[in-house]
Amino acid sequence: MNTEYVIRTFVEYFQQRDHRRITGSSLLPPPGDPVLFTTSGMHPLTPYLEGRPHPLGRRLVNVQRCLRTTDLDKVGDTTHLTVFEMLGTWSLGDYEGPRSLGWGHDLLVNGFGIDPGSLHATVFGGDEHCGPDTGSLRTWEELGVPVELTTDENWWSNGPTGPCGPDSEIFVWTGDTPPRSTPTGDDRWVEVWNHVMMRHHRRDDGTLDLLPQPNVDTGLGLERLTAVLQGKRSVYETDLFEPWLRSVPPLWQLDEQSLRLVCDHLRSSVVVIGDGVLPSNTGRGYVLRRLARRVLTTLWRGDPSRTLGDLPEELIQHTLDHFRQPEHTGRIRDVLLDEERRFTRLLERGRSILSQPRFATPLAEDDYAYLHDTHGLPRDLVRGLRTGTVG
Ligand code: SER
Repeated sequence: MNTEYVIRTFVEYFQQRDHRRITGSSLLPPPGDPVLFTTSGMHPLTPYLEGRPHPLGRRLVNVQRCLRTTDLDKVGDTTHLTVFEMLGTWSLGDYEGPRSLGWGHDLLVNGFGIDPGSLHATVFGGDEHCGPDTGSLRTWEELGVPVELTTDENWWSNGPTGPCGPDSEIFVWTGDTPPRSTPTGDDRWVEVWNHVMMRHHRRDDGTLDLLPQPNVDTGLGLERLTAVLQGKRSVYETDLFEPWLRSVPPLWQLDEQSLRLVCDHLRSSVVVIGDGVLPSNTGRGYVLRRLARRVLTTLWRGDPSRTLGDLPEELIQHTLDHFRQPEHTGRIRDVLLDEERRFTRLLERGRSILSQPRFATPLAEDDYAYLHDTHGLPRDLVRGLRTGTVG
């Protein structure tokens, strides 16, 4: 069961239930949207969740690539990726949560063959703003799936204001023993599918209004589900990363965590460049710059002569093909190498400046400000150079 099969099975299941496929793709949100990158499949659909009629109707399905910088520090574990894909479905004021959960259960069990005994759900238990999600609770009870009630963990929003609502998450047991404990009690429960009952809108003052229509917004993590279906311990062992884990270790010897970080960040950089972003000191370009520089820092810690020029073209091409990006591998490589050269020059300059006697003692705020404003050396880089953790 490879990734393409998972995507096809998901999309066809919902098309057979009258969902129309929308072409979700680019990481760049629509013009006028204040966020840097699309962080969830629902993101480009915000106006329609708020009531604008969608040209394709009230039932939608798509595959959306997403980028989350909030999870950057978790990258290197078995489930978090910087760029990932979300299989999404939406009911725009059409069917309600229980039907969505019923289909979700049916697809996981009968479509993908997951043992129903290895499922667990979580449901919103209510707080001072909103009562418990009894519809979801009842549905899971009828389906015989155990439920854990939580509050913060089961409320989904895309930001401090805007559409939001209680959610119900589906977890699959990935341990070697029979399932035990609950999703918040044992991290061998892996969350694969989130169903949000997107009924509310949060105002600036924190209060909730009902949206003009009750929606359902669901997101299934493609890489996580694929790992579960392929019986793999981590998303890096799925077919998506197969060429990476075949080609990178012979090239650069890295510990497991660093290997995952390097593969994730390089693959994410390729996609971000493929969507038209260039490294810079602000906005999207800065996210790309951080990804590339984290890779270089990790590589150089082991051997300062390592270079992105050695990155096999096959890995760039595999990524562009998977995300259906028409970019040329040569251009991606040029952008990465240009960033490597800039970072090298910055580190050389930084080392030379920091070797001056006035910086021999612990640095004061004024020193950091001077190094940043006059020499373009950010605080993290200065700290890294002084502690030997950068370059
Ligand atoms: N918006 C929800 C999420 O990102 C479901 O799609 O998890």
